[in-house]
Amino acid sequence: MKAHEKLLLENKAWSLEKQQDDPQYFLKMAKDQKPNFLWIGCSDSRVPANEVTNTDPGEMFVHRNIANMVVHTDLNLLSVLQYAVEVLGVNDIIVCGHYGCGGVKAALSHQSLGLIDKWLRNIKDVYRIHRDEIDALPDDDAKTNRLVEFNVQEQVMNLAKTSIIQHAWKHNKRPHLHGWVYGLNDGIIKPVFDMPPNTPIDPIFQYDNI
Ligand code: CO
Repeated sequence: MKAHEKLLLENKAWSLEKQQDDPQYFLKMAKDQKPNFLWIGCSDSRVPANEVTNTDPGEMFVHRNIANMVVHTDLNLLSVLQYAVEVLGVNDIIVCGHYGCGGVKAALSHQSLGLIDKWLRNIKDVYRIHRDEIDALPDDDAKTNRLVEFNVQEQVMNLAKTSIIQHAWKHNKRPHLHGWVYGLNDGIIKPVFDMPPNTPIDPIFQYDNI
């Protein structure tokens, strides 16, 4: 059997198991979704959003990209954000990075990797802001892991700079923004940064008329 054929077989078994546990499972699931959370995570295969938070289908709206970035010109991310905030009405947005992130590691290196260089440039910009603290660290792993934390913090701040979040904060007093980092070694998530609704932001990025 080919690798992808096993996926389809496993899917059939999973569907059957779910229906045996609860015959109404897919009927209920197909009706609607009302997730409370938007998860912005890394594409890394070792950090599956539902699994590490023990949540079920329907509980979490998910966007993943390399190194869990919030890039203000990324139409994909912005569309997910707008839909999650304005239509689904999520109460919490979680930007979840992970220690040992390959994207962050690559951004600290001087190797060109092709097209992805353009994406990783956004992480190099975060490195530039915190250069002194990162350069003072003893080894590459420590540098990567500290930049992972700074990157999560920066991406949460990038969320707060969007008109989508500022509008929702002003009119609906939500969502709460969270910056978390997942440990591949122990499976534990560490909260590293936090922006409750209406946290003051750098005035440069503040919109007054929304
Ligand atoms: Co990663």
